[in-house]
Amino acid sequence: MTDRMIDPVVTKRWKAHPEDSFTIERAVADGAYETLRLALSTETPQSLVDKVKASGLRGRGGAGFPTGTKWSFLAKDVYPRYLVVNDDEAEPGTFKDREITERDPHGLLEGALISAYATQASRVYIYCRGEFSLGYRRLQQAIEDARARGFIGEHIFGSDFSCQVEVHRGAGAYICGEETSLLDSLEGYRGQPRLRPPFPAVKGLYGAPTVVNNVETMATVPHIVRHGVDWFRSMGTEQSPGMKMFSVSGHVARPGNYEVALGLTLGELIDVAGGMAAGSTFKAAIPGGSSAPWVTDLNIQMSFEALAAAGTMLGSGAVVVFDQTTCAVRMATINTRFFNIESCGKCTPCREGTWWMRKVLERLEGGEGRQEDADLLFQLCEDMLPEAGAPASGRSFCALGDSAAWSLRSILKLFPEEFQAHVDEGACPLPQRRLFPAHASAGHGSAA
Ligand SMILES: Cc1cc2nc3c(=O)[nH]c(=O)nc-3n(C[C@H](O)[C@H](O)[C@H](O)COP(=O)(O)O)c2cc1C
Ligand code: SF4
Repeated sequence: MTDRMIDPVVTKRWKAHPEDSFTIERAVADGAYETLRLALSTETPQSLVDKVKASGLRGRGGAGFPTGTKWSFLAKDVYPRYLVVNDDEAEPGTFKDREITERDPHGLLEGALISAYATQASRVYIYCRGEFSLGYRRLQQAIEDARARGFIGEHIFGSDFSCQVEVHRGAGAYICGEETSLLDSLEGYRGQPRLRPPFPAVKGLYGAPTVVNNVETMATVPHIVRHGVDWFRSMGTEQSPGMKMFSVSGHVARPGNYEVALGLTLGELIDVAGGMAAGSTFKAAIPGGSSAPWVTDLNIQMSFEALAAAGTMLGSGAVVVFDQTTCAVRMATINTRFFNIESCGKCTPCREGTWWMRKVLERLEGGEGRQEDADLLFQLCEDMLPEAGAPASGRSFCALGDSAAWSLRSILKLFPEEFQAHVDEGACPLPQRRLFPAHASAGHGSAA
């Protein structure tokens, strides 16, 4: 087993008490809100920002931006400020935030309250994915219970810090996970990305300075505050310190969420998930959610820097593993269809590009592929992505368009023979299609 195995941190409470970890009684008995109390009595907002900055914590929502640095971008001396917790989690393959929300809503709330104190936000909005019915109910209950005990509201623990928390339910649009679309949606508008700059830290929710952070990022903060920077940096790599929850799915023996130290290899992570499913041999994997280009190297390190150097990304930590029976053309079609359906339509490259990609892929899948189709798909990707030497983002207005093209281009590069076979044979050449094993029910897939 990998030396990146750790004692549970974010997942600790529900590992110890799976039956009632979400209740306030159990959470408080397990120490919930004690770090908030400590922070309010011993730390200043600035010392907390400095601590999180020094820890090297990088956002767990997808982009991996350093959390403390993001906090320090807030417009100086402008109030009110808001903290928005991104609990939209619609990236295919990702299901870690759902488990945190359902199983440890108090850990999430404590992290959000400490972060609100650090950023001097007077209100926290949690944007909760509409489909999370159980998570939503538990979160609402947790807020009510925390408010009743004085952990939320006026003068928390007798301090000068007052903060309210509200939950807002999404309505199923993937684009509302993108932080500026999320802010529009929160304000009651149709969720579409905003032009940046200004960035939310300067002009965010209702025009006020706003920090948007992911659920897992928030749930990690209390542990850094309690155990310190050195403890956090003792795990992971120099550029990707700490632990991370990986949602592992696909053709592995035990799909589920696993909390490990960053920097293990893809092969080690698959071993943590029980190895490949019976009868499966490894073919490829998506290392960081549907937006991430595919990889075929089991020795690749699961860190922000190593995956970026390999032309892909850690993203949200959603690892989808494919075996020898997976048709690359079929997966490319499913993925592209998702991006096309979820494209918000605001900009032409993404709206039209994903539609054309989907149309050509469905033609190939339907047995009517043409000889020029793989080249055509490649060209469509190139047309959406940045030119060599240009800034990292492509020609679309937001990263959704880039993601669709990055992912498809990687599949075209890795498996050209499968696209050709679909043209030559007028059908999928693979003898059978194996369904993925069902995801382990929440918690059963946990590492420790
Ligand atoms: C299309 C799209 C969807 C996204 N969906 C999510 C999401 O569901 N949850 C999330 O935390 N971040 C999502 N993000 C990233 C957010 O824009 C933002 O970077 C993140 O919430 C910041 O939190 P962090 O710094 O803690 O990672 C998405 C980005 C894009 C472009
Ligand atoms: S890239 Fe796609 S999702 Fe993003 S703004 Fe353009 S059309 Fe909308």
